[in-house]
Amino acid sequence: MISEVSCSHLDSFLQKTETRSLTTGIVGLGYVGLPLARLFTSQGFKVVGFDIDESKTRKIMRGESYIGHIPESEIQDMRSGDQLIATSNFSCVSSVDTLSICVPTPLDRARQPDLTAVRKTAESLVPHLRPGQLVILESTTYPGTTTEVLLPILEQSGLKIGQELFVGYSPEREDPANPHFTARTIPKVLGANDPASRKALEAFYGAIFDQIVPVSSCEAAEMAKVLENIYRCVNIALVNELKLLCQRMNLNIWEIVDAAKTKPFGFQAFYPGPGLGGHCIPIDPFYLSWKAREYDFSTRFIELAGEVNTNMPYEVVIRVVDHINARGIPANKARLLVLGLAYKKNVDDCRESPSIKILKLLADRGFVVSYFDPHVNGYVSHRYGRLPGTELRELSDDVIAGADATLILTDHDAFDCERIVQLSKSVIDTRNATRSITSQREKIVLA
Ligand SMILES: NC(=O)c1ccc[n+]([C@@H]2O[C@H](COP(=O)([O-])OP(=O)(O)OC[C@H]3O[C@@H](n4cnc5c(N)ncnc54)[C@H](O)[C@@H]3O)[C@@H](O)[C@H]2O)c1
Repeated sequence: MISEVSCSHLDSFLQKTETRSLTTGIVGLGYVGLPLARLFTSQGFKVVGFDIDESKTRKIMRGESYIGHIPESEIQDMRSGDQLIATSNFSCVSSVDTLSICVPTPLDRARQPDLTAVRKTAESLVPHLRPGQLVILESTTYPGTTTEVLLPILEQSGLKIGQELFVGYSPEREDPANPHFTARTIPKVLGANDPASRKALEAFYGAIFDQIVPVSSCEAAEMAKVLENIYRCVNIALVNELKLLCQRMNLNIWEIVDAAKTKPFGFQAFYPGPGLGGHCIPIDPFYLSWKAREYDFSTRFIELAGEVNTNMPYEVVIRVVDHINARGIPANKARLLVLGLAYKKNVDDCRESPSIKILKLLADRGFVVSYFDPHVNGYVSHRYGRLPGTELRELSDDVIAGADATLILTDHDAFDCERIVQLSKSVIDTRNATRSITSQREKIVLA
């Protein structure tokens, strides 16, 4: 049942959606928010982007990009005709019709959900909210966040939820640098807890995404997102554990996964690596474990997967030490060239990257480490603090040939593996990046 009061606000919202005259707002212009802004503008909606980081809003206003895989030309396109403006001034909130919240949801030091950014965002919105607006939480989080954390703060505006203010949850499924899917073609799950909010959310995202997937509640949409990430986390842990067994059995896990994935049904390929990275997979499952405790429930798969995946960087270091020892080089004299800091290929994102952990572990063991990543080069200290070892600005032949071993931690396309194998004394490959190299295979150790 939609009441009369929500009807008038809803009708005008729906009408504006239909004529694409809604002004949209995005809070948090990071890896998720900026691509979302790009999508909204490409669909003909004006966007006001909000971020507390003024260096980002200034860059956008100057037409500059701060995300490696989003070219400057795209920011400039969005800026033309002021389709996108960016600000840290939340008083502009009253000028937008929708607010998609894409702020970080990390873990705190005790590895518990840290919803500070979601709370602070909601508090910043409250003084400027007006009737007829739609607020959508996009950040990944545990089921219950929209209802238990966001709504009580938004209610302080005095607006009646579901009548004057519409609220929903729609998880972000951005996969940076994935060439096969764009934000628009990835189906968009969404949920709301009252009929008017549901209608507004379905109309708005229905006008933007190729396919929307409405579910019965905010909680169901929140749970769907964590299920997706837990599914990846658990399956990666499984294949990581099997990688260790394969090493002992002198089998190549990548060959085995590739063979298994030819089964046309019932098998989905996951690949091992040096450990989990990124903002999502290492973190989000623990949002659910934390929430499950409230229900006296222990999420054993999540804990076990976390244990296996957390151990992977240590296993890589053991493999490196064994290899260097076998060559008769004392670890504290060995010069190691590390390739790849980002947590996955072709991106500049080093958050939770296992490379950073591995660099520290290697330095602790006395290795003389230098490292290179063409996507994050120069930004590392600025973004992630000083790392041990020497950051290289370029990958010269001399550097490769001078190292006792080259350790590949990220399989960026920019790495010329043929050249690397040819020049290196030996290559320790954690990603099977050297799979297509047929000569000098004796130099390669899979780790
Ligand atoms: N990065 C991904 O690939 C990805 C994919 C799916 C879902 N997610 C989820 O999306 C959310 C955002 O992730 P992200 O990778 O874009 O993070 P990010 O750190 O790249 O961007 C978040 C932005 O929010 C801004 N911010 C922080 N607090 C704010 C506040 N109070 N008000 C306004 N702006 C604020 C930050 O300055 C930053 O620019 C997280 O919940 C994450 O789990 C991320």
